[in-house]
Amino acid sequence: MDWDAFFTVHRDLPREGPGLADDIAWTGRLSATPRDGHVCDAGCGPGGDLAALRQLVPEGLVDGFETVAHFVEAATVRFADDPSVRIIRASMENLTGPYDLIWSAGAVYFLGVTRALEAWRSALTETGVVAFSHPCLFTDAPSEAALAFWEGEPGSIGTDATTRAEIASAGWQVLGSRQLTHEAWSAYYDPMLERCEMLEAAGTSASVAAAIAAARKEASDWRAVSGDTGYMLYVVRPA
Ligand SMILES: C[S@@+](CC[C@H](N)C(=O)[O-])C[C@H]1O[C@@H](n2cnc3c(N)ncnc32)[C@H](O)[C@@H]1O
Repeated sequence: MDWDAFFTVHRDLPREGPGLADDIAWTGRLSATPRDGHVCDAGCGPGGDLAALRQLVPEGLVDGFETVAHFVEAATVRFADDPSVRIIRASMENLTGPYDLIWSAGAVYFLGVTRALEAWRSALTETGVVAFSHPCLFTDAPSEAALAFWEGEPGSIGTDATTRAEIASAGWQVLGSRQLTHEAWSAYYDPMLERCEMLEAAGTSASVAAAIAAARKEASDWRAVSGDTGYMLYVVRPA
């Protein structure tokens, strides 16, 4: 992987994975996060979810944790005028909180469900919850193409049943779950495809052209496999 070329494509995008503000509103209803609560966005990327998280806690605080420098910068610039949002360049594995809600869109798989939940248990308030979106196979007999879609991503991709088993064996319970919609995926892929067009029109190196081709392939592969795989969103708390 040519990371410079990859991050030339993955720059100046509103978000770096599927998701909608409505997923956060739904999480807020399930978690009953207090208006003056303390929320963490673990693996916040460029900050695509911070505005919706901010709405959940209009009298509270939101911390974004992210390790990639230009995502940290993008999120910081986006919320430069809002003292209630702090962006921290540090691993989400070392949270202290205490948080009423740890939100993590498409980032838990970098650590694995068990490791993330173990790391976050002590970073929650007594009534705090974790909400995370996570890759999922929607069938026990996925197509080769669906399995291939996740090749190169960290960890192994399971079904809803295997993720729930991991959550339970870590000593947590599921308050609710739902599948991310096609609209949520479009919120990620549409701006990325527009950026590919913009970069191409401006003229690119061979390595960026390869990264553009890979990004387009990923978006088109997802459309082909979306019946078999996608993301589930889980809201969980210690049992
Ligand atoms: C698929 S992206 C999703 C970004 C963002 N949540 C969104 O939906 O736009 C996953 C993010 O997790 C970040 N990440 C991975 N491991 C991390 C860690 N240990 N600490 C903080 N961020 C991490 C990556 O840098 C990346 O920005």
